Amino acid sequence: MEFDYRTIKLLLNDPFEKVAKIVINRPDKFNALNSEVIRELDLAINEIEYRKKEIWAVIVTGAGEKAFIAGADIAEMVKFTPPEARYFLHSAQQMLNRLENLPMPVIAAINGFALGGGLETALACDIRIASDNSLIGLPEVTLGIIPAAGGTQRLTRLVGVGTSKYLILTGAKLSASRALSLGIVNEVVARDKFDEEVERLVKTILKMGPVALSAAKTSIQTALDENLRAGLELELDKAVECFQTQDLREGMNAFLGRREAEFKGK
Ligand code: COA
Repeated sequence: MEFDYRTIKLLLNDPFEKVAKIVINRPDKFNALNSEVIRELDLAINEIEYRKKEIWAVIVTGAGEKAFIAGADIAEMVKFTPPEARYFLHSAQQMLNRLENLPMPVIAAINGFALGGGLETALACDIRIASDNSLIGLPEVTLGIIPAAGGTQRLTRLVGVGTSKYLILTGAKLSASRALSLGIVNEVVARDKFDEEVERLVKTILKMGPVALSAAKTSIQTALDENLRAGLELELDKAVECFQTQDLREGMNAFLGRREAEFKGK
């Protein structure tokens, strides 16, 4: 099933069952994020939230051969007054918060340039897989601005203050392998094998019980927002929730019976 947007595509169960795929679709502008893309991404997230029982994983990627997302749309931003800039960046932050807080795993399939708002989008995803031709960074200061769709916050939480300052203050554009060595992406794969490697990753995730995945994701997220005591309490509650599911019995019995588990999301 495909939804009708102008600047993005949302595909459900295509190419994989139980998966939603969001494609930023402005290849002639290297998928730069303008206000319309942000609005449509918000609508796509609504749709995914509404169908959360049937969607077990989400892929975010860019159209075309060159770019994942080459950043916020500079041609649009150059005209912003300060209040317009605040509105745009606030919308982008809110949309990325919603993406990050989706209950199922979200995979950034980085197929080329992931710069500025592109990397910020990827940082709001749970797992990042990049093709080996990708170029990754937050070069905003080279334009006289700063990463403000969560970049200064999420990159710092991911890689620490030292590396975050180094990357943001130099505006460095990293190769995929350097981004891997710094922990910014989780896997780098050859461009010509990219689609099949994304498929392998997604299929690995789809083998798991979705209730457990969601519980794990929420618990990990809490580690960033809460102190250890509150995080441990939530982790405990989420684990007990898993004990209320058929999936947990299925997973454990499958292990004991030496067979593959078949999870139902119940
Ligand atoms: N905003 C608006 N348009 C962008 C864009 C952005 N962030 N990034 C790329 N584009 C557009 C270019 O204007 C060009 O469009 P045109 O053909 O209509 O002129 C098209 O995408 C291709 O980009 P181009 O610069 O010609 O390709 P390149 O291969 O020479 O360079 C990049 C690719 C990604 C290195 C270069 O486009 C770039 O540096 N983009 C900006 C990255 C950035 O600073 N992002 C942070 C923004 S906050």
